[in-house]
Amino acid sequence: MNAQTAFMDTDFTQLLVNSVESGEDAKKKALTNTVLAPRFYTTDFDAMDKIDVSSVREEWDLMMKEYEGDNNHDHFQRDATFAEEVKTLMSKLDENLKQEFYDFLIGSLTSEFSGCILYNEVRKNISNPDIKKLMTFMARDESRHAGFLNQSLKDFNFGIDLGELKRTKKYTFFRPKFIFYATYLSEKIGYARYISIFRQLERNPDKRFHPIFRWFERWCNDEYRHGESFALIMRADPKLLKGINVLWIRFFLLAVYATMYVRDHTRPALHDAMGLNATEYDFAVFKITTEITKQVFPVLLDTDHPKFKEGLDKLTSLSLLMDAAKTKKGIVSSLNQALLAAQALIVFGKLYFLPVIKSELPLQVRMTPTW
Ligand SMILES: [Fe+2]
Ligand SMILES: [Fe+2]
Repeated sequence: MNAQTAFMDTDFTQLLVNSVESGEDAKKKALTNTVLAPRFYTTDFDAMDKIDVSSVREEWDLMMKEYEGDNNHDHFQRDATFAEEVKTLMSKLDENLKQEFYDFLIGSLTSEFSGCILYNEVRKNISNPDIKKLMTFMARDESRHAGFLNQSLKDFNFGIDLGELKRTKKYTFFRPKFIFYATYLSEKIGYARYISIFRQLERNPDKRFHPIFRWFERWCNDEYRHGESFALIMRADPKLLKGINVLWIRFFLLAVYATMYVRDHTRPALHDAMGLNATEYDFAVFKITTEITKQVFPVLLDTDHPKFKEGLDKLTSLSLLMDAAKTKKGIVSSLNQALLAAQALIVFGKLYFLPVIKSELPLQVRMTPTW
């Protein structure tokens, strides 16, 4: 999962880890809690225990059969050419691209592991058989994903001690409904991102600079299914999709879209190397995600609105200024960071109040991924 949506609670005294030279740097990066960095979550387990999926029973049971079938059980293992590919391809990359790639691996690992921990904690703290089973399957998948990413970090001696990360990283409390909105979106946008990268590199194999991208197609089907689970949980409780909650849905949609856009625009070399234009890629990912969210959300963001891109670009420039400010210590830098954060909040607010598109919920919740 990729839930990196807590816009509050940013530590302005935290210095950014700019480059990763050692396992220690990789660990520090994974421990960082900035607006853009993936977080760890905890929630209200008693409320999770009370989830009732009986109104979507038929679709739910079919989905559980898919989890049981576990069609990716043998997927997250390296093949014979993996190590050789890492050696030959990576030796050709310049330092800048390598750093962006490490950043990508560490961020992805932290997100995957964040899902793993949350799903596992929910599993351990509830007795509701439907949800317990679901959490067991999702934790299984995320643990495989995290482990596979960590193997790639270990190739460069940047492996992260996940037990230690679990013990030392800060946890953010989210009410269950916020977990549903944020995690649903993270899973679905994660799918859209991975499938878009996979298709791009399928068309341009010369741009595949690391073998891990060959795994993305079957990988993203897991994320897609995790998203389906949250879609069913939300559709089973219609009040989560009505009234004041629609405002929360808008907030999470914007937070997830904006976070991705800003973060991707801080990694220009990575997108260049894959032959992707970060802006076009992100808008294509928005399109796919928006199409999918019709299964559960009564409102969609109008990403074609000209003010939408304008706002995201402003947030990106503010974030780059913030990164520069974070390399300096002292009161002036802290004030400067607070000012930039306030400006970002205003831009975010303007984006939030752009008109949205109303959407009728379909009778059948589940959707076949066709991308
Ligand atoms: Fe995952
Ligand atoms: Fe996932």
